[in-house]
Parts: sequence; C-alpha cells; structure tokens
Amino acid sequence: MRKKVHDRYFVPYKSEQDIQKSIQAVAQRITLDLKDKNPIFLGVLNGSFMFAADLLRLLDFDLRISFVKLASYAGTESSGITTELIGINEDLKGQTIVIVEDIVDTGNTLEKLIKMLKAQEVADLHVATLLYKPKAYKKEFPIDYVAIEIPNDFVIGYGLDYDGLGRNLPNIYKIDNP
Ligand code: IMP
Ligand code: MG
Repeated sequence: MRKKVHDRYFVPYKSEQDIQKSIQAVAQRITLDLKDKNPIFLGVLNGSFMFAADLLRLLDFDLRISFVKLASYAGTESSGITTELIGINEDLKGQTIVIVEDIVDTGNTLEKLIKMLKAQEVADLHVATLLYKPKAYKKEFPIDYVAIEIPNDFVIGYGLDYDGLGRNLPNIYKIDNP
C-alpha cells in the first residue's frame, strides 16, 4: 500500500521477512569474524535503533553496546560546522569497535565518526549497516557488513525517516517517483 509522508508518496520495498533474513546473514558473518574479540557495538542514533536491536539479539557472544549521536552546530567564531560525538563514556582505546548504521549513502557522516574514533586509538574498526548505496558512496573506508545494498533511491521505515517521520514503520518503503 502506498503511504503518504509529508508531501511525498512511498511504496513498499523490503518486507519485514526480507529484512530479517538479510540481518541473519550479516549476524552470521559478524559472529565468525568477531566472536572472540569482545567488541563494542556503537549504534548511531537515531536511525540505527531498530537494526541494532534486531542484529544484536542474534549475536550470542560477549559484547558491549553503546549508542552515539553526532551533533552538528555552527561554530560561534568560525564559519565552519563543528561535529561532536555524544554518548561515549567508555575508554575505546585498544578496543574492537563495530559502528552500527542505518544507512551509508555518501559516507560523509561515517567518515566524521571514523575520524573521531581513530583519534581515540581504537584497535580495530568495522562498519555494520542495514542499507548501503554503493553508487553514492564516495569514501575509501571499507563497509564490512552490509545487510542490504540498494540503488540511489530515498527510503524510509525500519529506523529511517523522511523529515522526522517514518522511523516506526516495520517495513522499508521507497519514494514513489513523481
Ligand atoms: P551520508 O550521505 O552517508 O553521510 O548519509 C547521511 C545521512 O543521510 C544518513 O545517516 C541518513 O540519516 C540520511 N540518509 C541518506 N540516505 C537516506 C535515505 O534513503 N533515507 C533516509 N535517510 C537517508
Ligand atoms: Mg542517520
């Protein structure tokens, strides 16, 4: 069923079953690679909350979970935009980190986060993302764990929003082109 969110229409794209199957495959790969590493999973808010909840329930080994938020604000003196990482209370030095993202598009957001984590001298850094737009991605950093690759369409649901709405939808919808 077509859905109207703000001024745009969206059509069903990935069902709950499709999403769960893709997450199971990624969870298996993560388990094989990281089960002995005591990793810290860093969910990036707001979009990753559903993916993180489903992914992490499929991982049956010792791990830690934190959620982080990137806050951007215009500096008071310079014209530059400053980005700050909120929510990390633990010492990440020497740890294996898995960033948990809802979507990697151009990779700009991810690159900022990676820079901040590298400054904390983490031992090993991985990225797990629900959705990945390979045609939009402009960065070098490898995206290790991708649940679903998608074309450059705008999608909502399962954590992802269009101007604040749509995050609670259990399925993923894509924009219905005008
Ligand atoms: P980036 O281009 O990889 O930096 O992505 C920046 C942010 O844009 C993501 O974290 C999402 O919040 C948002 N975004 C990118 N593509 C989509 C989409 O298709 N739907 C909803 N949000 C998106
Ligand atoms: Mg996001």
